[in-house]
Amino acid sequence: MSDRDFLSIDDLSRDELQSLLEEAAAVKADPRAWADRLRDRQVALIFEKASTRTRVSFEVAVTSMGGHAVVLRGDELQLGRGETLEDTGRVLSRYVDAIVVRTFGQDRLERLADAASVPVINGLSDFAHPCQCLADLQTLREKKGELRGLSLAYVGDGNNVAHSLMFGGTKLGMDVRLACPTGYEPFPQVVERSVELAAESGGRLTITDDVERAVAGADVLYTDVWVSMGQEEGDRRRTFAPYQVGPAMIDLAGDDVIVMHCLPAHRGEEITADAIDGPRSVVWDQAENRLHSQKALLAWLLEQ
Ligand code: CP
Ligand code: NVA
Repeated sequence: MSDRDFLSIDDLSRDELQSLLEEAAAVKADPRAWADRLRDRQVALIFEKASTRTRVSFEVAVTSMGGHAVVLRGDELQLGRGETLEDTGRVLSRYVDAIVVRTFGQDRLERLADAASVPVINGLSDFAHPCQCLADLQTLREKKGELRGLSLAYVGDGNNVAHSLMFGGTKLGMDVRLACPTGYEPFPQVVERSVELAAESGGRLTITDDVERAVAGADVLYTDVWVSMGQEEGDRRRTFAPYQVGPAMIDLAGDDVIVMHCLPAHRGEEITADAIDGPRSVVWDQAENRLHSQKALLAWLLEQ
């Protein structure tokens, strides 16, 4: 078995990403047909940060495909007492068929993945949230059909979720527009790579601090928390206030705009209650699709 990892959306070629999204749709349409895909397979899930969706959807994905999930908090492993990531990766590879990790720096994931001989999946890092992006792209296909040419305005912090949307969207030929306050832009290397991906796919990438420029006529309006896990110091509310997704911003977007949020949401901060709970919101479908897309991801990685 190979140990193909999934640490970033950019670890997949365009064809692999597209076929994974097709598989995600297939598993959603007929979950029973997938009931044995992970029979006798073991998956470890390590969480160094809080989680509701990732933790539950991965455990349910594994068990409902006939496998077994071992869910571990970082502080209950010897990792929390100084055992190295490398030793943890080597040892877990002797017990399980894949490892899902939610952690801080991407370097932590890379160290574990380099030492592990089984696939390692990024369940969120400070750098990227590729599993969320898979579910988001699945949701976009359901709601909008063809992704090529679709305009997605991401408004808020240029964070892990933004990075993965930039990679995934530009890889598939979308028009990705980010409106971020000065000082909260995405990482330069993500911008640089996404520009390359857009050039290859016929997509577009715009980074601006001007909400109107990003949102005007957009097919999709996406936001995430202003304060990601591990970045709690300081008060960002004043800086981010003009970036709140609410009725006025929705009016600026296209007539059929849908509103997306990876959750957890803070109503009254990055999004108003009427926007997230209103008729344009697809956030519950996004959350559900974590389950289906991760089933497709696990089956694909474990069958390499
Ligand atoms: N969207 C997401 O990853 O949610 P959790 O933090 O609850 O896993
Ligand atoms: N950007 C958020 C996403 C949570 C799913 C965070 O990293 O906390």
